[in-house]
Amino acid sequence: MTSEYLLAPDNRDLSRFPGEYGWPFLGKTLELVKDTLGTCNKHYERYGPVSRLDMVRNQRVLMCLGPEFNEAALFDPKGNFSSVGGYANSLGILYPDGMLLRDGKKHKKTRRASQPAFKTDALKTYVEMLIPIQERRIQALPINEEFIFYDNIRETLMDVAARVFLGLDETSPEAQRLNDVFERINNGLITPLPYNIPFSTFNRALNAREELSKFFKSNISLRRGTNADDMFTRYCNAVDEDGEYLDEEDIDGHMAFLLFAAFDTTTSALTNILYYLGKNPEWQEKVRNEIFSIKNEMPTFDDMSAMTLTEYVFQETLRFYPSVMILNRRTTRDVHINGYDIPAHTMIMLSPPFTHRMEEWWTNPLEFDPMRFSPERAEDKRHGFNYIPFGGGAHKCIGMHFAMMNAKLYLFRLLKNYKVNLRPNYDSAFMHVHLPRPIDGLPITLSKI
Ligand code: HEM
Repeated sequence: MTSEYLLAPDNRDLSRFPGEYGWPFLGKTLELVKDTLGTCNKHYERYGPVSRLDMVRNQRVLMCLGPEFNEAALFDPKGNFSSVGGYANSLGILYPDGMLLRDGKKHKKTRRASQPAFKTDALKTYVEMLIPIQERRIQALPINEEFIFYDNIRETLMDVAARVFLGLDETSPEAQRLNDVFERINNGLITPLPYNIPFSTFNRALNAREELSKFFKSNISLRRGTNADDMFTRYCNAVDEDGEYLDEEDIDGHMAFLLFAAFDTTTSALTNILYYLGKNPEWQEKVRNEIFSIKNEMPTFDDMSAMTLTEYVFQETLRFYPSVMILNRRTTRDVHINGYDIPAHTMIMLSPPFTHRMEEWWTNPLEFDPMRFSPERAEDKRHGFNYIPFGGGAHKCIGMHFAMMNAKLYLFRLLKNYKVNLRPNYDSAFMHVHLPRPIDGLPITLSKI
């Protein structure tokens, strides 16, 4: 693994901005982990849209709240913000060669080489792989008996990842071993003590990342020249503009990051969608009626595009709880945004969920109201950057359509057969980190339609 940029030290002089640094050593990490949105709300009320705070690893960060800052940092045609700089000390430690850990030309090149794996033709082959896995998993769900949905969908999406991303039989011992490896890596991302001390969570994560690397690198030559349709094989066969294969480091870096970027985000989204469909049975019924109106046994691509109400529910869920609750960048030079002068090399954090609930941009933002995404109301378009569950600009999520398709296919199969019931008056608190979801994992009971 290579770390591609040598960064100038962070600008730590943020004394001209209001804010609070929090505890020595940990800064405000624990508060932010416990309640990301609450911390943003508190800072906004006390200090306005721009305020400073400290995070673990001695990082000093500027919280920048609102669509103007989202636009400046994400759209960023002049390269005033670095994604590498924003993530080098977090994601970058475990995923130094991921797509988000690249800027400028290098990022563009990678993104271009990745596009074929996300085109419609490729997506269609993934659908073929997805359907039997979802089918098997949904058929095995307990009926009239409570279970924890988050645990279940996690296993289902692990199987999907093994098959669609890695080209493995999801029931094979190798797929099971990689599940465990992946879990260890992700535990390393959320530990409040990200230090490489023997036997620590973080140390286990670094070792697991090496193991994953070995899997990719030892399989590249075996996959090249074969015509399997999984993402890993597509990357092994992908060529850059000079007609050269991507090198081993690239493939390892992209594949590991893709797994990371795809898996937990979709797990969080589907768990939260079921939460809102359980809390709003009238919406569950509307989505089910839409599903019943599809005549094919499994929806075609066109059928999926016609599932508009399902899509609004997906969007509304991600408005409340975008899977990625914080986006990071670092300024590459002095910048002036929205009346604020921000010095070069300053770490900034953006908050999608805060922006998604701003009264200036949304009508009754605390109400669950999927129709706000209908073309007549289009509240998500009131500002180009008031709705950013998938980010925006050059780094906008490359897997957005895949995620939506995966979710629609799952909901189609599930809701066609079952009613999703929550406990009476169920109202779990949400955890925000690593990814947002009900703390208890969402206990649900399915009843046959
Ligand atoms: C509900 C599901 C998902 C959500 C909410 C989500 C969200 C995001 C967000 C917010 C970003 C931008 C981060 C930033 O700019 O700092 C991003 C980037 C990315 N996502 Fe997703 N994502 C999801 C699913 C997926 C899936 C399924 C894949 C792959 C199949 C994927 C692959 C990526 C990659 C590779 C990037 C980096 C793109 C780049 O740097 O050019 N994501 N995602």
